[in-house]
Amino acid sequence: MDSDVDDLLAEQIAYYRARAGEYDRVYAEREDLRGLLAAADELPIVGDVLELACGTGQWTQVLAGRARSVTAVDSAPEVLGIARERAASPKVRFLQADVFTWQPQRRYDTVFFAFWLSHVPPSRMADFWNTVAAALAPNGKAVFIDEGPAEAAREDVAATVRRLDDGSRYRIVKAFHDPATLTGDLAGLGWSADVRSLGNFIVGIAEPTANAG
Ligand SMILES: C[S@@+](CC[C@H](N)C(=O)[O-])C[C@H]1O[C@@H](n2cnc3c(N)ncnc32)[C@H](O)[C@@H]1O
Repeated sequence: MDSDVDDLLAEQIAYYRARAGEYDRVYAEREDLRGLLAAADELPIVGDVLELACGTGQWTQVLAGRARSVTAVDSAPEVLGIARERAASPKVRFLQADVFTWQPQRRYDTVFFAFWLSHVPPSRMADFWNTVAAALAPNGKAVFIDEGPAEAAREDVAATVRRLDDGSRYRIVKAFHDPATLTGDLAGLGWSADVRSLGNFIVGIAEPTANAG
């Protein structure tokens, strides 16, 4: 039921607000994640970039090195505070908003999101990708990175529970995607996508089918 999904999404927002101070630990601990940040050099990140669910700015700082401007959106003021320090640049501006209700006020050459798609419930995929399409300039591309199928094999559930250092528990969405299925799902939503595995991760580049010709 959709009110259940609303409750789950509210809990997911609360989880990341409460986790802000713990979030960067995963980047300190996982060498594969730090390697992935470097792999962004190969991705088509150009022009004015919109970053959705920017978190503590780990990717924002990388995007800022490649983009003309970065607009970085997240729902959690606590992570935005950390991101503002990490990715401080005249090119970067941060916005606090819920991606599921936010409407872009302009169009961007690139819409980027890292470790966000797996937090989008299946029932919200179409609306989410419509928001991405509304944010893209003609010939613009969506570029995304997420956990790959190996992670999915360990935790293949739509709603899962996370625990913080203080013992508090939160339900969040975890909907893993394998490249072939996601490519097909995106085709059904009007996107031409190239989704690949990269080590433990998936990397995708997508554009609305009308643009792809
Ligand atoms: C797994 S983290 C990814 C952060 C960052 N992109 C990275 O890769 O390090 C997910 C992020 O989504 C944000 N988030 C959760 N629900 C959101 C929503 N409805 N709208 C916007 N951001 C949301 C959280 O605050 C958190 O920063």
